[in-house]
Amino acid sequence: MCGIIGYTGKKDALDFLLDSMELLEYRGYDSAGIALTEERSADNSSQETKGVPRIMKCTGRVSELRKLCHEEKLSGSCGIGHTRWSTHGKVTVENAHPHRFGRVTLVHNGIIENAPALIEKYDLEGRLVSETDSEVAAAVLDHFYRKDPLEAIRKMTLKLKGTFGFAILFEDIPGKIFSVRNVSPIVVAGTEEAKILSSDVAAIVPFTNRYFVIPELSVAVLSKEDIELYDMAGEAVEIDWLTVDWDIHHSDKGGYPFYMEKEIMEQPRVIGETINAYVKEGKPDFGKEGIQDEILADCKRICIIACGTALHAGLVAKSLIQAMIGIHVDVVMASEFMYNDPVVDKETLVLAISQSGETIDTLEALKFARSCGSPTIAIVNVKGSSIAMAAEHVIYTLAGMEIAVASTKAYTTQLAVLYLLTARMALARKLWPQEKLGEYMKELLRVPEVIEGILARKEEIHHLADTMLNARDVFMIGRGLDYSILLEGSLKLKEVSYIHSEAYASGELKHGTIALITEETPVIAVVTQDKLKDKELSNIREVQARGAKVILLIKEEKEEQCENYWKIFYLPVMQDEFMVMPTSVVLQLIAYYVSADKGLDVDKPRNLAKVVTVE
Ligand code: AGP
Repeated sequence: MCGIIGYTGKKDALDFLLDSMELLEYRGYDSAGIALTEERSADNSSQETKGVPRIMKCTGRVSELRKLCHEEKLSGSCGIGHTRWSTHGKVTVENAHPHRFGRVTLVHNGIIENAPALIEKYDLEGRLVSETDSEVAAAVLDHFYRKDPLEAIRKMTLKLKGTFGFAILFEDIPGKIFSVRNVSPIVVAGTEEAKILSSDVAAIVPFTNRYFVIPELSVAVLSKEDIELYDMAGEAVEIDWLTVDWDIHHSDKGGYPFYMEKEIMEQPRVIGETINAYVKEGKPDFGKEGIQDEILADCKRICIIACGTALHAGLVAKSLIQAMIGIHVDVVMASEFMYNDPVVDKETLVLAISQSGETIDTLEALKFARSCGSPTIAIVNVKGSSIAMAAEHVIYTLAGMEIAVASTKAYTTQLAVLYLLTARMALARKLWPQEKLGEYMKELLRVPEVIEGILARKEEIHHLADTMLNARDVFMIGRGLDYSILLEGSLKLKEVSYIHSEAYASGELKHGTIALITEETPVIAVVTQDKLKDKELSNIREVQARGAKVILLIKEEKEEQCENYWKIFYLPVMQDEFMVMPTSVVLQLIAYYVSADKGLDVDKPRNLAKVVTVE
């Protein structure tokens, strides 16, 4: 999940590459590097040099690289850049990209699984300066390069096993960038000024809104004048252009200290926009997405595949669909899906949920499900992404660009789509009279304003966060939907504050984990489901009896049961099944404030990346 950028054009490439790399840093930020060619002459015309690249790279953030490049007065009108999330090889300058071998310089996103075999086959032992699989790929490409770049790229890709997205410079072809991919995403765009490529749309948005995704195993050739696309046989391929529908001005922090806060605050708007995009005459409608009622009416069961936060959205969908539709729903970690002999067939509707649309675990699971004959619907935030393209149907969330590694608005817009899909399924199966649908839709359409009310109380929530700043462990307990809500809340706290947190089904606690509850252990308890309230309150008393300090999130109408709590936050009242999104926003803010008050880099937590394109 590294960030890749390339530029060839009329202006100097340096600042464009560095600025874009900063936009892509959320994909990986343990080291960064850049390669520039074509020194500019004094009269600012492009002087074709040998195309020998000047390479600058460092560990740490792009800001460090920027300093080095300006100190060294790096310049050139054609170049590639890379921000790294290390997979092969430690975080060192040598392992940072770009990698140069012979006449080839490249940056890479993905994993070459047969790198050791290639080292042996091409006698590379002792000839490499890094520990990376990417440098091995550069060596293999250089091995095949005999003045025909397309032929060399074709031969190289035939030897590689694994995933890759490459941006490549050849020394004797100055001014041109070549790119080929397999699974790892690469998008390309062009204007009169320049032609650019990137590992994701975030770096395209400030430059232009028209782009295309390089089809797998096709080769894009970017020159100052043109963009060409070829298949592996060297035949020209038609370009399928897409348009970014994000507002370019949304790609900055909007005055907030971190993207995460901005994106939390955007939720009422983007949830409303997502709902309205798929409601027609008061009913959920996915006709524009080609999703006919038969697909929702005929399936005998549903299997949801996703990772992380998207998986947690799937758990909420399971509760909704099983309760309202009465069919069985499995929710499976995409990374486990194929390795547990999944029983999916043409009667199983498979939903793949993903913000980035590039999570390879989810993508590979989706492809497997399709191979089993299952109808598939992807719920994705990034238009034209691999998962969107791999599914039979796709429903886009309209969260806009989500930059913070910790997913917030993507999660709640995924939920918005899942609430709508559940209602559409009920209609398709003729389960709901018009009146019930009307009540359901009315409550769903209230969610944005209810969340507005939560956001208006953010200082109150900030005080809840104060209680956890120095905690070593934080437990979160609830049952049913409350448990699903807390699984997501716990992930948020873990990934941005580094505090060990565990969400626990509160009824399960007494079967072992309660042994970990000691005096002063902070426990967040969520009570929003009437049918589970008494049992949840009883489980809370069990941890209180062992000294836990309980922070209770409960519907404001339940005040009578609330005593002996460390802190209480009264949640606005919605029908039980709609309490998920407002409550999740409270937990998002708690995690955000704990991280920010600990002085951490909220948007780029250690060891993480926004898009996980390695298995
Ligand atoms: C969420 O806060 C995490 N950053 C992570 O769990 C994420 O949800 C997961 O990697 C799935 O990503 P996707 O939605 O882009 O597929």
